[in-house]
Amino acid sequence: MSDLAVIGTGSWGKNLVRNFYELRRQNTVYACDVDSAKLDRLRNAYPLLKTTPHYEEILSNDQIKAVVVATTAVNHFEKAKQALAAGKDVFVEKPLTLSSRDALALVELAESRQRLIMVGHLMIYHPVSQQLRELIKNGELGEVYYIYSQRVNLGQVRKDENALWSFGPHDFSILFYLLDQEPIDVAARGQTYLQNGIEDVVFVSLNFPNRVSAHIHLSWLDPHKLRKITVVGSKKMAVFDDTATTEKLRIYDNRAEKKIDYDTYGDYITLRFGDVVIPYVAVTEPLKLECQHFLDCIEKRQPPRTDGRDGLRVVKVLEAANHSLKNNGIPVNLEQYFAELHSSHR
Ligand SMILES: NC(=O)c1ccc[n+]([C@@H]2O[C@H](COP(=O)([O-])OP(=O)(O)OC[C@H]3O[C@@H](n4cnc5c(N)ncnc54)[C@H](O)[C@@H]3O)[C@@H](O)[C@H]2O)c1
Repeated sequence: MSDLAVIGTGSWGKNLVRNFYELRRQNTVYACDVDSAKLDRLRNAYPLLKTTPHYEEILSNDQIKAVVVATTAVNHFEKAKQALAAGKDVFVEKPLTLSSRDALALVELAESRQRLIMVGHLMIYHPVSQQLRELIKNGELGEVYYIYSQRVNLGQVRKDENALWSFGPHDFSILFYLLDQEPIDVAARGQTYLQNGIEDVVFVSLNFPNRVSAHIHLSWLDPHKLRKITVVGSKKMAVFDDTATTEKLRIYDNRAEKKIDYDTYGDYITLRFGDVVIPYVAVTEPLKLECQHFLDCIEKRQPPRTDGRDGLRVVKVLEAANHSLKNNGIPVNLEQYFAELHSSHR
C-alpha cells in the first residue's frame, strides 16, 4: 500500500481528507496546506494523519503515489503539473484549470507520463445522477426537450473566479453526462455586484444537437439554496432536487401531446397530468464514492470516469461561456470558437 496526499484543506479539501482517511486504503494520508492552523485542527481530528505546509515534501516523497489537489482553482494547474512531473497520479478538484490550454497541457503530461488524472466532477458520482441518466437512456422520459438547472445560494463568494467557474463545472459535467452529448453553442449573461469584474450571478444557455436546449442559473448571491435539475421530455418530466434530504428524484407522468385528428384548435394540444413516482435511490455520500473510484482506478490502472479529457471538455465550455459573458451574452459556437483560438495561437 502506498501513501496519498491532499493539498489544500479548506472548506472542501477537509472533506477529501476525511474521506480518504476513513476509507483506510492507504498506508498514510498526508494533508498539506500553507495555513498551519488548518493542519493542526485536522491532526486533532485524525490522529494518524501526517501534515506538512511544504508541498515540496509531498512531491519528493516516493512513498506518496497519489496527490489530490484541492487548493483554490487558480493554483490547480501549477500544483497538478508538479505532481504529474513528480510521477504521481493526480485527482484535481473542479474546475480542472482556468483555461483550456492549461487543461490540455495537463492531459498531455499525464498521458506522456502514463499517470492517471481525474477531475472532481462530483455530480457524476451521485447515485441520483446515474438513475436520471438511465431514465433518459432507456427512453422513459421520451425525447428530451429541454433541461434547466439551478445552483444558487448565499456564499461562498470567491475572489479568484466568478460564479460561472465556481459552480458551472457541476452543471456542465452533469448535462454532458445526462445527454451523452456536447453542446453546439453557449451564451451567458451575468452581473457583478460585490467585486469588480467577478460575476456573482450568471445565466447560461446551451444548445445541443436535436433541438435539446439547456439553461443554467448560477449564483452565490441568492436567498434560496437550490440544487435542482429539471428534465422535460416528450413522455415524462423528472426533477432531481439535491437539497431534499430524501426523495431526491421525482418522475412526473405529465406531458403535452399534439393530436393528428382534431375538430377544434382547443383539441389540437392535449395535456396529460398523471402520477408522480418517487423511486427509491440509496444515496451514499457522492464524495465517498468519488474517492473510492479514484483509489479503484489507481489499483486497476484504469482511466477514471471523469478523466482529464472530461475535465478539458468542461473547461472548454466554461471558457466559451466566459467569453460570451464578457461580451454581453453573444452566442459562441464552440467548434468555430476553438478553431479560431487554435489558429491564433499558431
Ligand atoms: N466538488 C465540489 O462539490 C466542491 C465544492 C467546493 C469546492 N470545490 C473545489 O475545491 C477547491 C477548494 O475549494 P475550497 O472551498 O475548499 O476553498 P478554500 O479557500 O476554503 O480552501 C483552499 C485551501 O487551499 C489552501 N491553499 C491555497 N494555496 C495553497 C498552496 N499554494 N499550497 C497549499 N495550500 C494552499 C488554502 O490555505 C486553503 O486552506 C476549489 O477548487 C473548489 O472549486 C469543490
